[in-house]
Amino acid sequence: MVSEAAELLRHTLGEDHEALLVLGSGLGSLVEQVEGGAELPFDRIPGLPGAGVAGHRGRYVAGRLWGRRVLVQAGRLHHYEGHDPGLVVAPVTIARMLGVRIAIYTNAAGGIDPRLEPGSIMLVRDHLDLQGRRAPMPSPDSGPRRAFEPSSPYDPRLQAVAREVAERTGLLLVSGIYAAVLGPSYETPAEIRALRAAGADAVGMSTVPEVLAARREGLRVLALSLITNRAAGLGVDRLSHDEVLEAGRDGSGKVIRVIEGVLERIDGLESEG
Ligand code: HPA
Repeated sequence: MVSEAAELLRHTLGEDHEALLVLGSGLGSLVEQVEGGAELPFDRIPGLPGAGVAGHRGRYVAGRLWGRRVLVQAGRLHHYEGHDPGLVVAPVTIARMLGVRIAIYTNAAGGIDPRLEPGSIMLVRDHLDLQGRRAPMPSPDSGPRRAFEPSSPYDPRLQAVAREVAERTGLLLVSGIYAAVLGPSYETPAEIRALRAAGADAVGMSTVPEVLAARREGLRVLALSLITNRAAGLGVDRLSHDEVLEAGRDGSGKVIRVIEGVLERIDGLESEG
């Protein structure tokens, strides 16, 4: 799939991007700020399906954002949509092919830590992968890959930059553990109690497959969770996808501020070391 699409992607989107931004539920509006944006919907890329969930637009936009050359991926593929596990991480290979060295992932998540109320932001410092699905090992002839590593995949230097940005702008940024579950149903209160006992601070249905693939591709990774609701049993309301989208729109300004500050300070972080 990916090699077939390579020419189209390079031609349409260019291949000298400084960072990839992956926008989760409710954060898609950031693409409107990209200047000189070349656009490519997922469903025009051979082998990629149109991302099918409401609020997931499923397109790439390449251009300038706050002076940086960025590749923005609005929408993503989830395991719960029933895709082949390898397909869920195909956008990571695409990003690396287009020159990306730094990937910033965002997602919507339910807050488990009491400090993580709707509208707050969590800096992901590690994760629990509870999806029960993994992309297969890439084939040996598909380019250089890093060995698997035993430490957290989230880049300590990018995390430090994000924390500094939050401090400077007076934003509360809680560092925490993101639990990735398969979905698509939200959790039960009993499951949330179990996740809390296991050390999770927030819960969502995405990001981890891409992060693991990004590390295999040698990218530096930062991930931010926008807390759209208290996790099941911890708040008063029943959870609905519409509420998640609405809270995402409301809180997205804070995530965007962190991303802006990080992008301003990524000089020298493009190469591994
Ligand atoms: N659980 C799982 N995924 C989510 C949630 C949640 O509470 N909120 C947003 N995405």
